[in-house]
Amino acid sequence: MRYISGVSGFGIENLPRIVRGSGSYVYDAAGKRYLDGSGGPAVFSLGHGHPEVNAAIARQLGDIAFGYRFTFTSEPLEELTRTVLRLCGGHFKDVLFSAGGSEAVESALKVALQHYAARRLMKKRRFISRRRSWHGNTLGALSVSDFTERRRDFEGSLLDVAFVAAANGYRPPQGIAPGELAEHLAAELERTIEALGPDTVAAFIFEPIVGAAGGVVPAPQGYARAVQAVCKKYDVLMIADEVMCGSGRSGTWRTLEFDDVAADIMCIAKGLAGGYVPLGATLVNARVAEPIHAAHGAYQTGHTFSGHTAACAAGVAVQRIIERDALIARVRTSGAAFQAALRERLARFDEVGDVRGRGYFIGVELVRDPRTKAPFPRARALSYDVGRRAFADGLICYPCAGNVDGIDGDSIILAPPYNASDTELEEIMTRLTAAIEAALTAGRCILEH
Ligand SMILES: Cc1ncc(COP(=O)(O)O)c(C=O)c1O
Repeated sequence: MRYISGVSGFGIENLPRIVRGSGSYVYDAAGKRYLDGSGGPAVFSLGHGHPEVNAAIARQLGDIAFGYRFTFTSEPLEELTRTVLRLCGGHFKDVLFSAGGSEAVESALKVALQHYAARRLMKKRRFISRRRSWHGNTLGALSVSDFTERRRDFEGSLLDVAFVAAANGYRPPQGIAPGELAEHLAAELERTIEALGPDTVAAFIFEPIVGAAGGVVPAPQGYARAVQAVCKKYDVLMIADEVMCGSGRSGTWRTLEFDDVAADIMCIAKGLAGGYVPLGATLVNARVAEPIHAAHGAYQTGHTFSGHTAACAAGVAVQRIIERDALIARVRTSGAAFQAALRERLARFDEVGDVRGRGYFIGVELVRDPRTKAPFPRARALSYDVGRRAFADGLICYPCAGNVDGIDGDSIILAPPYNASDTELEEIMTRLTAAIEAALTAGRCILEH
């Protein structure tokens, strides 16, 4: 018998059986303890086994698990809707709940199409996305993703999406200085819209901080504002995919808050209910929503489990604790110190090309040559090697491969729980440093022999 967990090459063949979690630690059946330095895949905003979240879910299950959205509303659904809209600073009008990030992105794409259908602009059907991006595994979300390995087997059945360059300050297009990057990329987006025909383009989707496809790549200052101006000029909707970087992880509740920009449509998921139950959401602003309400009444998207009552109760509990304990302010200030300390700790390795990110969303990029930024070959599988060594030593981090060209490139993501203690953050740094050192040393030994 083989359990299909969807592991895509991390290289841990015989996965340990998890039995328990408490705070920043999880435990396997053999009693081994792991420090969750990446919050799984940047999910566990409050760590594991939080008694207040568990109690809120249990209370809800005791009352009723789920009131189906076509039949009932519920207090958790209404409260989470109010909470999310408030935490987003009043930029959005509607919240469409779903069961995760891919569904949230799928809904965002469909809402964009429905918006133009409502305005009888039926030619506006196309999407523009970016290179080195990840938006999810359903066919629509996969279509707007540029992740070679995950797309390969489905090519031919994906939507015809146009891709523009990634917004990567560490790897800018040749000849472009850091200060020119935002304008350069906005100009590329504008050329792409014009080439496709503005009357055919529905939306531009991007991650304000790229996650798994790039190893935590924040867009440069001014980028979001510049691409928003282009989108507005051509009546193209701007979709911010904050599934990984959002819900407080980057030190503001909305990631684009940092840029003082609000998208037309925004997707959130992972940190919203902190991994206690699956939950995602798509937020829609009034400009997008009103034509839909006027022409169609309701949104033509949603799933059986959209707005699941116990999931919303978990989301309410998680967000209440984050707010009560001022954890986003902690993520912001302590994240900056954590990143600076990590950069200093890793400075002795030539192969650490870049340490970047915001809040508790940090990427470490490993390169073969720091001057040319040439990556290690994929066959070396360095990021997975680091991940495996860290895991053996009791640290969970998130290794990503392919961030340079879809094949080569090695980075490690750290995304600790917002309530991780200073001692735990220190332990994450120590163990990651040891894992990187061991993997690099092992690689040098192989080269020398
Ligand atoms: C930015 C982004 N969007 C969408 C998704 C898809 O989310 P899910 O795996 O919950 O479907 C992910 C998942 O990693 C993501 O990082």
